[in-house]
Amino acid sequence: MRIAGYSFKRVKIGRNRLAVASLTFLLLISVLLIGCTELAKPTATAVVFDPTPAPPGTRELVLAGGSAADIAALAQPVELPEGNASNGEQLHTTLGCAACHSIADDVIVGPGWKGLYTRAGERTEMEAEEYLIQSITKPSAFIAEGFTNVMPAFDYLSDQELADLVAFVQANN
Ligand code: HEC
Repeated sequence: MRIAGYSFKRVKIGRNRLAVASLTFLLLISVLLIGCTELAKPTATAVVFDPTPAPPGTRELVLAGGSAADIAALAQPVELPEGNASNGEQLHTTLGCAACHSIADDVIVGPGWKGLYTRAGERTEMEAEEYLIQSITKPSAFIAEGFTNVMPAFDYLSDQELADLVAFVQANN
């Protein structure tokens, strides 16, 4: 046969040789495809950079030597029931806060509570309410400047008692 000046010889290929050639070809393609799928697999899990911001107050807590559990507890949002200021005022006496805290601005052992609510919101990055609860339940987490770490932790109070104390501090501001 002649096409555009080139002559082609018809090569006769036996059936068996054709079969072997096709099989070899298929085998090569399969190996190639298997090889490709293996190559397509990721060699390592991708590193996702997704930093979680530290909860507010962490720095103070770390500086004050707070434990990992204390720091984790900071991340929990504070959800308190409605507080009752006059119950809070009674708790100031019955719980013994009055032994160290005046409700005016004089110092007994700890800071007086006059203006405490405003101060509480400025002490750390925490909201006033959150700071007050931390100060009552974990007083060593943040030590007010000029004072020492002598306040016992009132970590057994109910949510209602905490809410009442906060309500009183706010009302007494
Ligand atoms: C033995 C004395 C003592 C008793 C009792 C005591 N505190 Fe304190 N308290 C302190 C001292 C000292 C500080 C300042 C050092 C610090 O920050 O822990 C303080 C700090 C605080 C603060 C933070 C004040 C600020 O200006 O940042 C709060 C709020 C507080 N106390 C609430 C209470 C409550 C509520 C009670 C009662 C349930 C109580 N305290 C009982 C001594 C006491």
